[in-house]
Amino acid sequence: MSRPLPANLKDLYGVMTPESAAQMYGGGSLVIDGVEFVSGYAPDSTPDRFYIVKSAELIAMYREFLDAVRPARVFELGIAEGGSVALLALMSYVEQLVAIDNEPNRLPALDDFIGARGLEGSVSAHYGIDQADGATLAGLVERHFDHGEVDLVIDDASHVYDLSVASFEALFPRLAPGGWYLLEDWAQPLKFAAAVVRASTDDAGPPADAPDLPVPLSRLGLELTIATCTASGVVDRVMVNHEFIAARRGPEPVDPASFRLADLTAGPVPGFLAEGAGRA
Ligand SMILES: C[S@@+](CC[C@H](N)C(=O)[O-])C[C@H]1O[C@@H](n2cnc3c(N)ncnc32)[C@H](O)[C@@H]1O
Repeated sequence: MSRPLPANLKDLYGVMTPESAAQMYGGGSLVIDGVEFVSGYAPDSTPDRFYIVKSAELIAMYREFLDAVRPARVFELGIAEGGSVALLALMSYVEQLVAIDNEPNRLPALDDFIGARGLEGSVSAHYGIDQADGATLAGLVERHFDHGEVDLVIDDASHVYDLSVASFEALFPRLAPGGWYLLEDWAQPLKFAAAVVRASTDDAGPPADAPDLPVPLSRLGLELTIATCTASGVVDRVMVNHEFIAARRGPEPVDPASFRLADLTAGPVPGFLAEGAGRA
């Protein structure tokens, strides 16, 4: 039986053709340990040829980050065509890997890859899970990771602010001290805004009937940066580039049951990021 088209690709095909989606990250490829990784997005992954929704540049940045951090226990949000999960599974230092996606149907290519390499005890993919379902995410950490702790979380799922904050609040407290929380595509709204500005022929601003834009994910990137000052024992460092921002878990204990992002940034200047704050 052929695999149903994943919901995320169905949405994407509403705004671009399958051919342009397959090529949107350049279409180049690299081979690691006998597995080919193709930069693009198409529903055609096989156990030895995965589509990875990342450009060649981003894959290189990831590999540099991973080789520096060498995480053993990794939790990834956002499976798509399995490319990033398979890539992580091939990193020698990754010992335990859990990935989730809200797509209801399993990805047979990834299951077959895991089976063929005997990784059933260390790599697991879970479907039909929303990244905002913090209780389920926390349960997966408890069930699958030694000491109920993670060394690296990668959020490459919805890129929607509220949903990303929900995952952060569930998973950041479950990082081991020194562990990293990586938010991919954090700057996408900024790049989009810059493209709109570049494309406009005058400086009249957006049209009056422009729809309200959602809270940009970039806000979470800024909040993590601010937290390195306002809660430096909890978030003790951020590493940032135009593709992703990564926040490091400091040594200060936190209670996962009551952990809230807003508490990290409250600090001495309440409302620092509030709408209109600081404007004359
Ligand atoms: C950018 S793709 C992931 C790409 C993959 N990490 C890679 O590098 O090849 C985003 C994925 O997140 C999933 N997704 C979107 N919204 C989600 C949500 N609210 N919860 C969980 N997964 C979600 C989509 O179904 C899609 O498969």
